[in-house]
Amino acid sequence: MDDVEGARTFAVAGATYDAFMGRYSLPLSELFADAAGVTRGTALDVGCGPGALTGVLVSRLGPEAVRGCDPSPSFLEACRARYPGVVLETGRAEALPFPDDVVDATLAQLVLHFVSEPVQAAAEMARVTRPGGTVAACVWDAVDGMEVLRAFWDAASSVAEVPAEAQTHPFGRPGEVVELFAGAGLEEVVESALDVATTYASFEELWNGFLGGVGPAGAYCVSRSEQDRARLREALFARCGSPPGPLRLAARARCVVARVPA
Ligand SMILES: C[S@@+](CC[C@H](N)C(=O)[O-])C[C@H]1O[C@@H](n2cnc3c(N)ncnc32)[C@H](O)[C@@H]1O
Repeated sequence: MDDVEGARTFAVAGATYDAFMGRYSLPLSELFADAAGVTRGTALDVGCGPGALTGVLVSRLGPEAVRGCDPSPSFLEACRARYPGVVLETGRAEALPFPDDVVDATLAQLVLHFVSEPVQAAAEMARVTRPGGTVAACVWDAVDGMEVLRAFWDAASSVAEVPAEAQTHPFGRPGEVVELFAGAGLEEVVESALDVATTYASFEELWNGFLGGVGPAGAYCVSRSEQDRARLREALFARCGSPPGPLRLAARARCVVARVPA
């Protein structure tokens, strides 16, 4: 699925993603599954990536009760290797490769902001979920809820002109996913905030994550000239408080859980 716009910056190894974003999405997965009330039944992980949320669903429901899909071949390969027995398909949220009413809960973690046709994606998430089932999504808070990305884009803007649209993303503001889900005919739509944090052994570890080229920030970082990248590194170090050793950064996601009409 090379033609999926939102997946272009995710053609990397699972381990590269884990070092950059998986360190946040792993703890987020437990909170997200709790918020969605996933304790039994079947579930679909839309945009599963290398499997942060997939793993949590497997541990709660068993592999045979879990399905997933993603347009990135390298992520699917990583997810399949980690979670044998889970049905994992190549596919995008706008055209989910699953039949109607197939699961009790459909979840999309850190995916909606990469989807080209979100209205279609919300309709698809509702379609594959049984009546009375759960549809849920979470997206990083777009204002200042994700410290490492905020620091990165602030640092990048201090070094060069960065297009405004590169520095933020849709569905990270209160009410945005609520509106999307309500528009898809979903009911009992409830929004909350989910807070996680990660500790980097050093600034070097944090910086190396960007050099993996993952996601829009990583792709931007590796696209710079060597000279600009060195200035960006310096600016980011300063934004992080010039830490001499380990540093801990927080991230907040906006989470929305809804019910498919019975
Ligand atoms: C930030 S990663 C999140 C991965 C995983 N859900 C997690 O929480 O770690 C975004 C994921 O969305 C996938 N993606 C991009 N465009 C998509 C689309 N249109 N439909 C479904 N997934 C998409 C990417 O391939 C990538 O795996």
